[in-house]
Amino acid sequence: MSDRPVAVILAAGRGTRMKSRLAKVLHPLCGMPMVGWVVSATESAGAEPVLVLHHQEEAVRAAFPTCRAVRQEQPQGTGDAARSAVATFPEDGPVLVLAGDTPLLRPETLRSLLEAHGDALCTVLTARVTEPGAYGRIVRGADGTVERIVEAANASTEELAIDEINTGVYCFDAAWLRDAALPSLAPNPPKNEYYLTDVIAAAASPGPPWGRERPLRALVHHDASETMGVNDRWALAQAEAVLQSRILHAHASEGVTFQQPATTRVECGVTLGKDVTVGPGVCLLGQTTIGDDVKIDAHSVLNNAKIDDGVWIRAFSHCEDAVVGSKATIGPYARLRPGAVLEQGVRVGNFVEVKKSLLEAFATVGHLTYIGDARIGARSNIGAGTITCNYDGVAKNHTDIGADAFIGSNTALVAPVAVGDGAIVGAGSVVVTDVPANAIAVARGDQSVKEDAAQRYRDRLAAKKAEDDGAGG
Ligand code: UD1
Ligand code: CA
Repeated sequence: MSDRPVAVILAAGRGTRMKSRLAKVLHPLCGMPMVGWVVSATESAGAEPVLVLHHQEEAVRAAFPTCRAVRQEQPQGTGDAARSAVATFPEDGPVLVLAGDTPLLRPETLRSLLEAHGDALCTVLTARVTEPGAYGRIVRGADGTVERIVEAANASTEELAIDEINTGVYCFDAAWLRDAALPSLAPNPPKNEYYLTDVIAAAASPGPPWGRERPLRALVHHDASETMGVNDRWALAQAEAVLQSRILHAHASEGVTFQQPATTRVECGVTLGKDVTVGPGVCLLGQTTIGDDVKIDAHSVLNNAKIDDGVWIRAFSHCEDAVVGSKATIGPYARLRPGAVLEQGVRVGNFVEVKKSLLEAFATVGHLTYIGDARIGARSNIGAGTITCNYDGVAKNHTDIGADAFIGSNTALVAPVAVGDGAIVGAGSVVVTDVPANAIAVARGDQSVKEDAAQRYRDRLAAKKAEDDGAGG
């Protein structure tokens, strides 16, 4: 048993309002499933998360393999969900309960809630909003004390006008919740659900064994945008924008320039060095890591890429599961596919595709080329339009090019084939057998030249045309 407070995260609902086959809490936000943000907020607040699951339980467990989880057998509302987690409550002391669909919640807020809770039976986090919409409303008595929470679906017109809402984040006295409050819940119309919100009225009412002797508290949170519940796709889009802006802000404060943050996407697993400049429309996805002094120009997309210091990625380039060594230059319009490994100082230019290949230090592949299943030795130059013909219709074959080699433009290297160190291949060659080190290989048709033949050819065409026109007229 850990001495961290338990944070029960209700995440069993399907999320009908998302209109999705995917369970609501699995919808990704900035590269992580929605509920992951809640899990990580509870952990950063020093609590131990416990997930309550039902819909797509296995998928959620697989996404958070180290997180404790319990099953809600038949989802019958948030009260029922909390009930299915009672075995994980501590004997006494506080237990946090919150919803898996409030991904914007910050750890500091959970810490303040725990602090404010003290010896209370229950402390509910509330917020004042301009559009209370579908949130539960906090009903206070004439003296301002909280009396109960009324769900929007069950509220009177007067109650609907209340602008203080239930954020769905609570701290409870664990023993009271387990032994008194949850067992006393009754189903509510219209769907016969057990509302966790009904325990508030229980905490407010006098009666044994706890009665009003211990307080019911409400902590009004100053930032309502942080407590937003995501119930539909539009709220998902708004949450995405808030989280994205937080991620960019955090990187910016560590020395990253975003030329146009509004069009930039950086997922939560990305790490960035110092003095990195990120252009408009750039997407940095997955576990991409970027070193210091890297420049990433407009509209480049990097997914699980590892980019060393001083690299320049020019506009419209794509890198996926690729490694780029220091001071290399990529693009514009380059495509590095999985398994592309570029050592330091390599230059890959426009319309070049590299897959599962090693480009050793200072190799140059400037234009319109496909390099697949290959090694290109250090300092070698690959001419425009070169193709490694790696696929024979059945299997993928390897091309090996040594160091300091020169491959002329428009060469087809029919794999498996090797070109030795320092060798030269003439432009337009189709190379089918190995070229030894320092050899020159030319594999193309011989050129024939006929003096003045062009003029004779044009004269013949003109004569033919005159004859045809005469016959026609
Ligand atoms: C709930 C609150 C509402 C509050 C709002 C804050 C209740 C009855 N209402 O409403 O007062 O203003 O959150 O965002 O609690 N869940 C389960 N099992 C279930 C039902 C739901 O685990 O049987 C989970 C859902 O997966 C979700 C969370 O509980 O993550 C909240 O459920 P949801 O249906 O979104 O509640 P709201 O209608 O938003
Ligand atoms: Ca909700």
